[in-house]
Amino acid sequence: MTTLELISKPRANGKVYRTSDGLIVKTIPWAGDKSERFLKREEKIQRALLLKGFNVSTPYGVSSLRLNDGAVVSGFFMEYIPGIPWYDLDLSQRDFTSKTIRPEIKRAISMNFKPGNYNENVILGSDGKVYLIDFEYWEMPGVPDEITPFLRDITNRL
Ligand SMILES: Nc1ncnc2c1ncn2[C@@H]1O[C@H](COP(=O)(O)OP(=O)(O)O)[C@@H](O)[C@H]1O
Ligand SMILES: [Mg+2]
Repeated sequence: MTTLELISKPRANGKVYRTSDGLIVKTIPWAGDKSERFLKREEKIQRALLLKGFNVSTPYGVSSLRLNDGAVVSGFFMEYIPGIPWYDLDLSQRDFTSKTIRPEIKRAISMNFKPGNYNENVILGSDGKVYLIDFEYWEMPGVPDEITPFLRDITNRL
């Protein structure tokens, strides 16, 4: 049986787990029945970036996932990137990652991607490469932002 270990920070937006098979699986608990849709659009963007040669985790697909408490949710499975997430980097490493990704972000923009929050969404890989993660708020042609309007809509209905 596959077991899950929560690796994202308690206050994080989504919940990201490491599976006992060595994969990463991301869920968006607050999005309810929209989470499958949101994870699929994120996967599309991640796959497009991978095909363009960016350093990103290989996406393996969105499918249903049974959490340790038995609840079934949608999960976005992807390759685990060994290394250090941004939160655990020291100042000089953060400086290095932000300098390294700057030309990559420019290249993405020149290819009509619209980056979301990127500075904190990096992993300094054990292989020395800097990986971009978390494309929830990115956009690309044909894949508009659906999450911001969704959040605005919930707020308006409060
Ligand atoms: N492919 C991956 N490999 C290794 N760790 C990852 C991977 N994806 C996410 N993580 C870890 O999970 C954390 C949260 O992931 P992220 O996609 O940024 O979710 P959120 O939407 O909650 O910000 C990251 O900061 C990182 O520590
Ligand atoms: Mg993030």
